Amino acid sequence: MNQMIANDTSTNWNWRSDFTRVPYEVYVDQQLFDLEQEKLFRGPCWHLIGLECEIREPGDFETTYIGTTPIVYSRGPDADVHAFVNRCAHRGARVIRELRGNNPNPSCPYHNWRYDITGNLVSVPMQKGLKGKGGYSEDFSKDCHGLQRLRIHAGVLFATFSEEAPTLREYLGEPIWERIAMIGSKPLRVTGYQRQTVQCNWKLFVENNRDTYHGPQLHSFVPNFGLVNPTERAQVDVEPPHALLTSRLPTDEEGVAKIPAPRGRFELEDTGLSQSINELEDIQVSVVSIFPSSLFTCIRNVRSCRRLIPKDPNTMEIEYIWFGYEDDDEEMREVRRKQNNILGPAGYVAMEDAEVLEMIQNGISRDGAEGFIELGGNGTESTDHFNTEATVRGFWKGYCELMGIETSAEAATEEAG
Ligand SMILES: [Fe+2]
Repeated sequence: MNQMIANDTSTNWNWRSDFTRVPYEVYVDQQLFDLEQEKLFRGPCWHLIGLECEIREPGDFETTYIGTTPIVYSRGPDADVHAFVNRCAHRGARVIRELRGNNPNPSCPYHNWRYDITGNLVSVPMQKGLKGKGGYSEDFSKDCHGLQRLRIHAGVLFATFSEEAPTLREYLGEPIWERIAMIGSKPLRVTGYQRQTVQCNWKLFVENNRDTYHGPQLHSFVPNFGLVNPTERAQVDVEPPHALLTSRLPTDEEGVAKIPAPRGRFELEDTGLSQSINELEDIQVSVVSIFPSSLFTCIRNVRSCRRLIPKDPNTMEIEYIWFGYEDDDEEMREVRRKQNNILGPAGYVAMEDAEVLEMIQNGISRDGAEGFIELGGNGTESTDHFNTEATVRGFWKGYCELMGIETSAEAATEEAG
């Protein structure tokens, strides 16, 4: 049935097998949005849900979403980590309403069904009725009515609804697995949270995360003030459907990484923003874009993971988790705090992304127009430069495969009209 919806929808659109065109309808179509929830967000994909260091004590919990499904991740009584759907097994009300906190026994506000923080149902009012009247039948078992559990991977927390999904390591591939291990090689410490609603389709934001073309164009602040030099020793690892972007600092004759000087006509009065400390070897920018919608960004000393939460075809929410390390000294904390002004809802750089993506969403008129994605040719191979849209094509390759959308081989050879 759902497969049919995808085919019905997609046959009206020109999907090329090299993914150099994207029909703009994919950013506004409600049927496609609903199918994405089933095939991607509840399908055989792993989703970054948070960091284990957020939930240190038994009873600690955090709430978020995978796609449109509300979820909780929590620390159980034996220091074990859990994730479950935040929806009462009785009538579907949200059990935990706080964003985060500590509660070993959350209960649903509607009929007071009480759970433990691992998702087991522990008590039900009037289970045996009152004075022998009413209640549930003899064969009612609380064991059958816990909160729906997800598979989880510890450390940097990933979760999936699917039993069919491969292991996380297989899902991510070695380069991304190793990069995440590198970022998480010592104990993390969360430094703050931010959230932002953007009036655009979630897929536009994913494309933007892995779009190396727009960086120096839209975000002229970055090269002008010497924050990073994005053309320096760049590497794009395309592992469809994921992408890994890396740029490294220039090095001197002895191979020592040097922080570049500002090259623009303007100078910052407070140069604290552009000061940074080398870490992660000589990497100045590392963006890990995990299909479908998880993101790890390191820009100089700013560390964040971002959860992209689709709300409807035209609306998404971004949840930022900012982090550093337990062993950060005072100087490093100050550097991270200052550089945080680059990203975030009102950051010098990230606010430009939200603005431009809303401009795209507002311009879609369902007239058959399509996006043109041919920078760097029509392949999805890795490159030693950023001058390519291979990562965006790689996203659509994975997307069409998982969504069951057929592509047309002939169209791929046609010239753009
Ligand atoms: Fe951007």
